[in-house]
Amino acid sequence: MASRPILVVAGVGTGAGTGGSAARLFSKAGYRVALIARNASSLQTFAASLNESGGDAHPFPISSYTHGSIHEAFTAIKQHWSGGSDKAEIRAALWNAGPGVFKPFLSITEEEVKDTVDTNVIGGFAFARESILSFKENGLDAKGKRGTLLFTGATASLRGNVLTSAFAAGKWGIRALSQSLAKEFGKENIHVAHAIIDGGILTGRAKDSRDPAWVENEDVRLNPDNIAEAYLYLVNQDRSAWTWELDLRPAHEKW
Ligand SMILES: NC(=O)c1ccc[n+]([C@@H]2O[C@H](COP(=O)([O-])OP(=O)(O)OC[C@H]3O[C@@H](n4cnc5c(N)ncnc54)[C@H](OP(=O)(O)O)[C@@H]3O)[C@@H](O)[C@H]2O)c1
Ligand SMILES: *[C@@H]1O[C@H](CO)[C@@H](O)[C@H](O)[C@H]1NC(C)=O
Ligand SMILES: *[C@@H]1O[C@H](CO)[C@@H](O)[C@H](O)[C@H]1NC(C)=O
Repeated sequence: MASRPILVVAGVGTGAGTGGSAARLFSKAGYRVALIARNASSLQTFAASLNESGGDAHPFPISSYTHGSIHEAFTAIKQHWSGGSDKAEIRAALWNAGPGVFKPFLSITEEEVKDTVDTNVIGGFAFARESILSFKENGLDAKGKRGTLLFTGATASLRGNVLTSAFAAGKWGIRALSQSLAKEFGKENIHVAHAIIDGGILTGRAKDSRDPAWVENEDVRLNPDNIAEAYLYLVNQDRSAWTWELDLRPAHEKW
Protein backbone atom coordinates (compact mmCIF):
# COMPACT_ATOMS: atom_id res chain seq x y z
CA MET A 1 0.00 0.00 0.00
CA ALA A 2 1.39 3.39 -1.00
CA SER A 3 1.97 5.78 1.88
CA ARG A 4 -0.36 8.76 2.09
CA PRO A 5 1.67 11.82 3.04
CA ILE A 6 0.51 14.35 5.63
CA LEU A 7 0.05 18.09 5.08
CA VAL A 8 0.04 20.21 8.25
CA VAL A 9 -1.71 23.57 7.92
CA ALA A 10 -1.59 26.20 10.68
CA GLY A 11 -4.08 29.04 10.46
CA VAL A 12 -7.17 27.42 9.03
CA GLY A 13 -9.72 29.79 10.59
CA THR A 14 -13.19 28.61 9.61
CA GLY A 15 -11.89 26.90 6.46
CA ALA A 16 -13.16 29.69 4.20
CA GLY A 17 -9.78 31.21 3.35
CA THR A 18 -6.37 30.23 2.02
CA GLY A 19 -5.65 27.70 4.77
CA GLY A 20 -8.97 25.96 4.16
CA SER A 21 -8.54 25.94 0.38
CA ALA A 22 -5.08 24.41 0.70
CA ALA A 23 -6.43 21.74 3.05
CA ARG A 24 -9.23 20.87 0.60
CA LEU A 25 -7.00 20.70 -2.46
CA PHE A 26 -4.25 18.64 -0.81
CA SER A 27 -6.90 16.34 0.63
CA LYS A 28 -8.25 15.75 -2.89
CA ALA A 29 -4.68 15.16 -4.06
CA GLY A 30 -4.36 12.28 -1.58
CA TYR A 31 -2.78 13.96 1.44
CA ARG A 32 -3.88 13.34 4.98
CA VAL A 33 -4.51 16.77 6.46
CA ALA A 34 -3.64 17.92 9.98
CA LEU A 35 -5.46 21.14 10.80
CA ILE A 36 -4.14 23.61 13.38
CA ALA A 37 -6.20 26.64 14.44
CA ARG A 38 -7.59 28.24 17.57
CA ASN A 39 -11.33 27.56 17.30
CA ALA A 40 -11.83 23.87 18.15
CA SER A 41 -15.48 23.72 17.12
CA SER A 42 -15.11 25.31 13.68
CA LEU A 43 -11.96 23.23 13.11
CA GLN A 44 -13.84 20.02 13.94
CA THR A 45 -16.65 20.98 11.53
CA PHE A 46 -14.17 21.71 8.78
CA ALA A 47 -12.23 18.46 9.33
CA ALA A 48 -15.50 16.50 9.19
CA SER A 49 -16.38 18.18 5.87
CA LEU A 50 -13.03 17.06 4.40
CA ASN A 51 -13.72 13.52 5.57
CA GLU A 52 -17.18 13.60 4.02
CA SER A 53 -15.50 14.35 0.69
CA GLY A 54 -13.34 11.26 1.06
CA GLY A 55 -10.39 12.80 2.90
CA ASP A 56 -8.57 11.85 6.09
CA ALA A 57 -8.44 15.07 8.10
CA HIS A 58 -8.10 15.66 11.81
CA PRO A 59 -8.31 18.82 13.95
CA PHE A 60 -5.48 19.78 16.30
CA PRO A 61 -6.78 22.92 18.02
CA ILE A 62 -4.42 25.09 20.05
CA SER A 63 -5.26 27.99 22.34
CA SER A 64 -2.64 30.27 20.81
CA TYR A 65 0.37 30.10 18.48
CA THR A 66 3.05 29.56 21.13
CA HIS A 67 6.16 27.43 20.86
CA GLY A 68 4.79 24.93 23.38
CA SER A 69 1.35 24.54 21.81
CA ILE A 70 2.76 24.07 18.32
CA HIS A 71 5.19 21.45 19.63
CA GLU A 72 2.30 19.62 21.32
CA ALA A 73 0.21 19.77 18.15
CA PHE A 74 3.01 18.11 16.12
CA THR A 75 3.42 15.42 18.76
CA ALA A 76 -0.33 14.74 18.59
CA ILE A 77 -0.26 14.69 14.78
CA LYS A 78 2.48 12.03 14.71
CA GLN A 79 0.68 10.04 17.38
CA HIS A 80 -2.66 10.22 15.53
CA TRP A 81 -1.31 8.66 12.33
CA SER A 82 1.20 6.25 13.92
CA GLY A 83 -1.04 3.17 14.09
CA GLY A 84 -1.70 2.40 10.42
CA SER A 85 -0.08 -0.24 8.28
CA ASP A 86 1.50 2.32 5.94
CA LYS A 87 4.07 4.83 7.11
CA ALA A 88 2.49 8.26 7.58
CA GLU A 89 5.05 10.98 6.95
CA ILE A 90 4.68 14.73 7.22
CA ARG A 91 5.75 15.83 3.74
CA ALA A 92 4.24 19.30 3.47
CA ALA A 93 3.57 22.12 5.93
CA LEU A 94 1.90 25.48 5.43
CA TRP A 95 2.31 28.40 7.83
CA ASN A 96 -0.76 30.49 7.02
CA ALA A 97 -1.60 32.20 10.30
CA GLY A 98 -1.08 35.92 9.98
CA PRO A 99 -3.12 38.19 12.17
CA GLY A 100 -3.01 41.81 11.18
CA VAL A 101 -2.97 44.99 13.22
CA PHE A 102 -3.95 47.69 10.74
CA LYS A 103 -3.61 50.97 12.63
CA PRO A 104 -1.73 54.26 12.59
CA PHE A 105 1.62 53.78 14.31
CA LEU A 106 0.90 56.03 17.30
CA SER A 107 -2.34 54.14 18.09
CA ILE A 108 -0.66 50.75 18.37
CA THR A 109 -0.31 49.44 21.90
CA GLU A 110 2.57 47.41 23.29
CA GLU A 111 0.12 44.51 23.67
CA GLU A 112 -0.73 44.63 19.96
CA VAL A 113 2.94 44.68 19.00
CA LYS A 114 3.53 41.65 21.22
CA ASP A 115 0.54 39.79 19.73
CA THR A 116 1.73 40.50 16.21
CA VAL A 117 5.28 39.37 16.91
CA ASP A 118 4.17 36.34 18.95
CA THR A 119 1.94 34.97 16.21
CA ASN A 120 3.73 36.08 13.06
CA VAL A 121 7.29 35.50 14.19
CA ILE A 122 7.49 33.34 17.33
CA GLY A 123 4.69 31.06 16.07
CA GLY A 124 6.24 30.87 12.61
CA PHE A 125 9.63 29.92 14.08
CA ALA A 126 8.04 27.16 16.17
CA PHE A 127 6.09 25.82 13.20
CA ALA A 128 9.20 25.84 11.00
CA ARG A 129 11.23 24.02 13.67
CA GLU A 130 8.65 21.25 14.06
CA SER A 131 8.21 20.90 10.29
CA ILE A 132 11.93 20.69 9.59
CA LEU A 133 12.52 18.19 12.41
CA SER A 134 9.72 16.06 10.90
CA PHE A 135 11.11 16.31 7.35
CA LYS A 136 14.58 15.26 8.55
CA GLU A 137 13.11 11.86 9.46
CA ASN A 138 11.94 11.31 5.86
CA GLY A 139 13.79 9.72 2.97
CA LEU A 140 13.78 11.39 -0.43
CA ASP A 141 10.49 11.35 -2.33
CA ALA A 142 10.04 10.98 -6.11
CA LYS A 143 11.05 14.65 -6.55
CA GLY A 144 14.22 14.19 -4.53
CA LYS A 145 12.89 16.06 -1.50
CA ARG A 146 12.31 15.29 2.17
CA GLY A 147 9.51 17.81 2.53
CA THR A 148 8.22 21.26 1.59
CA LEU A 149 7.59 24.12 4.00
CA LEU A 150 5.40 26.95 2.68
CA PHE A 151 4.72 30.40 4.11
CA THR A 152 1.80 32.67 3.20
CA GLY A 153 3.07 36.23 2.85
CA ALA A 154 1.37 39.47 1.84
CA THR A 155 2.10 42.78 0.12
CA ALA A 156 3.37 43.76 3.57
CA SER A 157 6.13 41.12 3.27
CA LEU A 158 7.93 43.58 0.96
CA ARG A 159 6.34 46.99 1.49
CA GLY A 160 5.37 48.89 4.59
CA ASN A 161 2.47 51.31 4.39
CA VAL A 162 0.62 53.87 6.48
CA LEU A 163 -1.34 51.36 8.59
CA THR A 164 0.99 48.39 8.51
CA SER A 165 3.94 49.14 10.81
CA ALA A 166 3.12 46.15 13.04
CA PHE A 167 1.78 43.80 10.35
CA ALA A 168 4.64 44.49 7.96
CA ALA A 169 7.20 43.95 10.73
CA GLY A 170 5.71 40.49 11.29
CA LYS A 171 5.47 39.63 7.59
CA TRP A 172 9.02 40.86 6.83
CA GLY A 173 10.18 38.71 9.73
CA ILE A 174 8.55 35.62 8.23
CA ARG A 175 9.99 36.36 4.79
CA ALA A 176 13.48 36.72 6.30
CA LEU A 177 13.01 33.47 8.22
CA SER A 178 11.86 31.59 5.12
CA GLN A 179 14.82 32.79 3.03
CA SER A 180 17.28 31.83 5.77
CA LEU A 181 15.70 28.38 6.06
CA ALA A 182 15.68 27.87 2.29
CA LYS A 183 19.45 28.40 2.26
CA GLU A 184 20.22 26.39 5.39
CA PHE A 185 18.03 23.37 4.62
CA GLY A 186 18.19 23.24 0.83
CA LYS A 187 21.39 21.27 1.42
CA GLU A 188 19.28 18.63 3.14
CA ASN A 189 16.79 18.50 0.24
CA ILE A 190 14.17 20.33 2.28
CA HIS A 191 12.27 22.80 0.11
CA VAL A 192 11.23 26.09 1.72
CA ALA A 193 9.06 28.53 -0.25
CA HIS A 194 7.45 31.89 0.45
CA ALA A 195 4.40 33.23 -1.40
CA ILE A 196 3.73 36.96 -1.56
CA ILE A 197 -0.04 37.31 -1.79
CA ASP A 198 -0.21 40.77 -3.33
CA GLY A 199 -3.91 41.62 -3.21
CA GLY A 200 -7.16 40.99 -1.37
CA ILE A 201 -8.21 37.36 -0.87
CA LEU A 202 -11.86 36.33 -1.19
CA THR A 203 -12.12 34.74 2.25
CA GLY A 204 -15.36 34.02 4.13
CA ARG A 205 -14.79 37.20 6.10
CA ALA A 206 -14.30 39.22 2.92
CA LYS A 207 -17.51 37.81 1.42
CA ASP A 208 -19.41 39.10 4.46
CA SER A 209 -17.73 42.45 4.87
CA ARG A 210 -16.56 43.75 1.49
CA ASP A 211 -18.29 45.57 -1.30
CA PRO A 212 -20.40 43.07 -3.35
CA ALA A 213 -18.91 44.53 -6.56
CA TRP A 214 -15.45 43.50 -5.33
CA VAL A 215 -16.69 40.07 -4.25
CA GLU A 216 -18.21 39.37 -7.66
CA ASN A 217 -15.35 40.75 -9.78
CA GLU A 218 -12.87 37.97 -10.48
CA ASP A 219 -10.44 40.47 -11.99
CA VAL A 220 -9.73 42.23 -8.72
CA ARG A 221 -9.41 39.64 -5.95
CA LEU A 222 -7.60 36.40 -5.34
CA ASN A 223 -9.60 33.22 -5.11
CA PRO A 224 -8.04 31.15 -2.29
CA ASP A 225 -8.64 27.95 -4.29
CA ASN A 226 -6.27 29.28 -6.94
CA ILE A 227 -3.67 30.20 -4.32
CA ALA A 228 -3.93 26.59 -3.15
CA GLU A 229 -3.17 25.39 -6.70
CA ALA A 230 0.05 27.39 -6.60
CA TYR A 231 0.92 25.75 -3.27
CA LEU A 232 0.40 22.26 -4.68
CA TYR A 233 2.58 23.23 -7.65
CA LEU A 234 5.37 24.30 -5.28
CA VAL A 235 5.13 21.05 -3.33
CA ASN A 236 5.30 19.06 -6.57
CA GLN A 237 8.41 20.86 -7.86
CA ASP A 238 11.53 18.77 -8.38
CA ARG A 239 14.66 19.67 -6.40
CA SER A 240 16.52 20.44 -9.62
CA ALA A 241 14.35 23.49 -10.34
CA TRP A 242 12.50 24.74 -7.32
CA THR A 243 11.19 28.12 -6.25
CA TRP A 244 11.99 29.97 -3.06
CA GLU A 245 9.59 32.85 -3.68
CA LEU A 246 6.64 33.50 -5.92
CA ASP A 247 4.15 36.32 -6.06
CA LEU A 248 0.47 36.01 -6.81
CA ARG A 249 -1.93 38.84 -7.61
CA PRO A 250 -5.23 39.24 -9.45
CA ALA A 251 -5.16 40.40 -13.09
CA HIS A 252 -6.27 43.97 -12.41
CA GLU A 253 -4.19 44.60 -9.29
CA LYS A 254 -2.41 47.98 -9.29
CA TRP A 255 1.15 47.31 -8.15
N1 LIG B 1 -7.17 38.14 3.39
C1 LIG B 1 -6.39 38.85 2.59
O1 LIG B 1 -6.86 39.72 1.85
C2 LIG B 1 -4.91 38.59 2.58
C3 LIG B 1 -4.12 39.25 1.64
C4 LIG B 1 -2.77 38.96 1.58
C5 LIG B 1 -2.23 38.04 2.45
N2 LIG B 1 -3.01 37.42 3.37
C6 LIG B 1 -2.40 36.43 4.26
O2 LIG B 1 -3.06 35.18 4.04
C7 LIG B 1 -3.10 34.45 5.26
C8 LIG B 1 -4.52 34.25 5.75
O3 LIG B 1 -5.25 33.72 4.80
P1 LIG B 1 -6.72 34.19 4.57
O4 LIG B 1 -6.86 35.67 4.73
O5 LIG B 1 -7.06 33.55 3.32
O6 LIG B 1 -7.55 33.61 5.81
P2 LIG B 1 -7.54 32.15 6.46
O7 LIG B 1 -6.93 31.15 5.55
O8 LIG B 1 -8.90 31.96 6.93
O9 LIG B 1 -6.52 32.27 7.64
C9 LIG B 1 -6.32 33.37 8.50
C10 LIG B 1 -5.63 32.85 9.69
O10 LIG B 1 -4.90 33.81 10.42
C11 LIG B 1 -5.14 33.59 11.81
N3 LIG B 1 -5.46 34.77 12.58
C12 LIG B 1 -6.33 35.72 12.27
N4 LIG B 1 -6.40 36.64 13.24
C13 LIG B 1 -5.56 36.22 14.19
C14 LIG B 1 -5.18 36.72 15.47
N5 LIG B 1 -5.71 37.86 15.92
N6 LIG B 1 -4.27 36.04 16.19
C15 LIG B 1 -3.74 34.91 15.73
N7 LIG B 1 -4.06 34.39 14.52
C16 LIG B 1 -4.95 35.03 13.77
C17 LIG B 1 -6.34 32.74 11.95
O11 LIG B 1 -5.94 31.76 12.81
P3 LIG B 1 -6.91 30.66 13.35
O12 LIG B 1 -6.95 29.67 12.26
O13 LIG B 1 -6.26 30.18 14.56
O14 LIG B 1 -8.26 31.30 13.58
C18 LIG B 1 -6.71 32.34 10.56
O15 LIG B 1 -6.73 31.01 10.35
C19 LIG B 1 -2.44 35.29 6.30
O16 LIG B 1 -1.11 34.90 6.42
C20 LIG B 1 -2.59 36.68 5.73
O17 LIG B 1 -1.64 37.56 6.24
C21 LIG B 1 -4.34 37.68 3.46
C1 LIG C 1 -15.84 29.29 16.96
O1 LIG C 1 -16.54 29.00 15.78
C2 LIG C 1 -17.92 28.87 15.97
C3 LIG C 1 -18.53 28.50 14.63
O2 LIG C 1 -18.08 27.24 14.24
C4 LIG C 1 -18.51 30.17 16.50
O3 LIG C 1 -19.90 30.01 16.73
C5 LIG C 1 -17.80 30.57 17.78
O4 LIG C 1 -18.24 31.85 18.18
C6 LIG C 1 -16.30 30.58 17.57
N1 LIG C 1 -15.63 30.81 18.84
C7 LIG C 1 -14.76 31.79 19.04
C8 LIG C 1 -14.14 31.85 20.40
O5 LIG C 1 -14.46 32.60 18.17
C1 LIG D 1 -11.63 11.65 9.59
O1 LIG D 1 -11.43 10.27 9.36
C2 LIG D 1 -10.20 9.76 9.92
C3 LIG D 1 -10.06 8.29 9.57
O2 LIG D 1 -10.76 7.93 8.47
C4 LIG D 1 -10.18 9.95 11.42
O3 LIG D 1 -8.92 9.57 11.94
C5 LIG D 1 -10.44 11.40 11.75
O4 LIG D 1 -10.50 11.57 13.14
C6 LIG D 1 -11.73 11.87 11.09
N1 LIG D 1 -11.91 13.27 11.40
C7 LIG D 1 -13.05 13.76 11.83
C8 LIG D 1 -13.08 15.22 12.08
O5 LIG D 1 -14.03 13.09 12.00
